Amino acid sequence: MKNQIIIDEAIKPFNNKITVSSDKSLSIRCVLLSSIAIGKSKIFNLLESEDVISALKAVKKIGVNFTRKKNYIEIYGVGINGFKIKKNTVLNAGNSGTLARCILGLSSAINGKIKLIGDESLSKRDFYRVIKPLNLFGINIKSNKGMLPLELVGSNLLKPIKYFENKGSAQIKTCIILSAINTPGITKIKANRSRNHTELMLKSLKYPIKIKRTKKFDLIDLKGMSQFKAFNYKIPGDISSASFFIVLTLLSKNSELLIKNININPSRTGIITILNRMNAKIKIINKKNYKGEYIGDIKIKSTKNLKSINCSKNLNSSAIDEFILIFLIACKSSGISTFKNLGELNNKESPRLDIAIKFMRMIGIKVLRKKNDIKIYGNPKLKLHGRYHAKNFLKDHRIFMMSVIAALTFGGNRWILDDKDSIKTSFPNFLNILKKLGAKIN
Ligand code: S3P
Repeated sequence: MKNQIIIDEAIKPFNNKITVSSDKSLSIRCVLLSSIAIGKSKIFNLLESEDVISALKAVKKIGVNFTRKKNYIEIYGVGINGFKIKKNTVLNAGNSGTLARCILGLSSAINGKIKLIGDESLSKRDFYRVIKPLNLFGINIKSNKGMLPLELVGSNLLKPIKYFENKGSAQIKTCIILSAINTPGITKIKANRSRNHTELMLKSLKYPIKIKRTKKFDLIDLKGMSQFKAFNYKIPGDISSASFFIVLTLLSKNSELLIKNININPSRTGIITILNRMNAKIKIINKKNYKGEYIGDIKIKSTKNLKSINCSKNLNSSAIDEFILIFLIACKSSGISTFKNLGELNNKESPRLDIAIKFMRMIGIKVLRKKNDIKIYGNPKLKLHGRYHAKNFLKDHRIFMMSVIAALTFGGNRWILDDKDSIKTSFPNFLNILKKLGAKIN
C-alpha cells in the first residue's frame, strides 16, 4: 500500500558518522524573528520541511518576502508593526503547533483580521493556552471552543502583561514574548522552565530582554517596541531528530555512531541525561558556543546492560518530544521505569502518551498507567517474532519514526508501518540516513 513501509529484519551492526536535519524550533524562530527585524537576514541551513515551509508561506501572507539563494535564504524583515495584510487573510499553519501559537503572538498588533487554520491534527489541539495571555494584552480572538479555526483581530492599543506560564511550554512562552515585542512597556513572564531559544536569539540581537533564573522558574522582563536589525544565523542539527539515531544505536548490536553538529542547549538535552542515568554512555564532544546556544557532536555506542529509571518530572520539558523514544529504552531495560506527569504528551501532534502505551502493550510489554504517570516493566531479553502493524491515525511524524526504530531493533517477522510521508514535517531525510547505515526498508 502507498505510504506504508515494510521492515522484515533488524539493522546489522554499523559504525558511522552522520548529520541530521536542521533544528525545527530554531528554523521557525529564525523565520519569525527575521520577519520583524529591519532589513535582510540571511539564514543558513534552514530546515527544508513542511512545518518550516508553512512558516515561510505564513509570513509571506502578512507582507514578508524572501528569496532562496544557493546556501541560505534571505528574508526581508519589515520591522516591528510593519506587517501588511489583505482582506480575508488566511494563515495555514499545517501540522505545526509551534508556528500556529507563535504567529498569533507575532501578529498581535496587525492592522486588521487574520484567520488561522491547520491540518486535522492541529485542529484537535488546544489554543486556550495562548488565547488566555493574548486576551490580557487586549487582543480579540474568536475560536472554535479553544481550537482552530480561529480569528484574531490585531490591536494597536496593547498593554503589557504579567503572566505565569505554568505548563513549561516554550510555545506559550514564545507567543507571549512575540506579542510583548509589539507592546509598549515592560511585559513580565514567570515561566516553568522550557526551551529558551527565543530568549537566546533576542539576547544575541541585543534586544532589551532580562532573564533571571531562580531554582524553579525563569523570570523574563522584556521591553516592547524596540526595533532590531536583520541578522545572520546558521542553524545546527536538531537533537529531536538525532534522538532517533541515539536510541537506534543503543538498541543495536555492536554499533557506534557519531552525530555531528547538534544543538545541545541544556533545555533540550533531557534525553541524554535520562538515557545516561539508564546506563547509556552518550558523550558530547567538540562543544562550542554559537550566539548563546551550545553546539556539539554526539557519540553513542550500543549498550547491553540498560537499567530502569525513576524519572524526575523536572526533566519532562527538556525531553518532551523524546519520551516516546525513551520508552523504547525502558522496554529493553532491567527493572521497572516510572515516568510522571506526562499529560502534555497527549497535547502533541497526536495523543502520544496514549499511543505509546498502546504500542508498548502491542509488543508485549507490561505498562501500568495512573492518570498521566506510567510504569514500564522492562524486559532486557525482549525479542519479537510476530507480525506488527503500527497504525498512525493522525499521521504523527514522531510516532512513525519511533515505530521504525522499534522495528529495526526489537526483532519481529514483519513490521508494517503507516504514513511514511509524515516525516516531511520535520525530518524528510530520515529513511535515507537509515538506509545509509544499512537498514533494509521496503
Ligand atoms: C516547541 C516546543 C515544544 C515541543 C515542540 C516544539 C518549540 O512544545 O513539543 O515540538 O519549538 O517551541 P511545548 O512548548 O508546547 O511543550
